[in-house]
Amino acid sequence: MNKDRIAGSERRRLYLAGGLCALGVGLGVARYVVTRPQPPAGHPLPVDFGDLAPGKLMTVDWHGRTVWILRRSADDIAALAGYESELADPASLLSLQPEGCRNAHRSLRPELFVAIGQCTHQGCPPALRSGAGNRAEFLCPCHSSKYDIAGRVFRTGPAPANLVIPEYHLEGDRRVVIGEA
Ligand code: FES
Repeated sequence: MNKDRIAGSERRRLYLAGGLCALGVGLGVARYVVTRPQPPAGHPLPVDFGDLAPGKLMTVDWHGRTVWILRRSADDIAALAGYESELADPASLLSLQPEGCRNAHRSLRPELFVAIGQCTHQGCPPALRSGAGNRAEFLCPCHSSKYDIAGRVFRTGPAPANLVIPEYHLEGDRRVVIGEA
């Protein structure tokens, strides 16, 4: 009898230990599912832009994100000044970009603009067009936020920040590697 009671209590202890063990494994799996390594945000994508003519925009898919590569002409670059008071964040202090792109043209080289092609309001894709005074700009069709071709947002629309610039680096005059500084 006493022996049976001891055996019963041993069995309960074993069940409890087994249950805790299973719970631990379950929690571990759950934690893994939540915290499993994501594809690296900076997974690099090399792009050849050598044939891109001045004023032209190319679009690439970078792991599900639309990235623009725009070759700016000398006139485009010259036109990026003189209207800073109309911009929400002209010095890009509140916007996302690599440190090397925190300048008036928001790029590593003035002639090449690289940006995520998503409005910072609700993510719609803005379109390149010719704006006032024939100045090129990006207009978001959803709620009319407007960006210059350095991705700096005008105060007139609801978008709160400039277009996001991803990490990238240039290799020679034809190749940009998106996602890697
Ligand atoms: Fe672009 Fe709203 S999503 S203005």
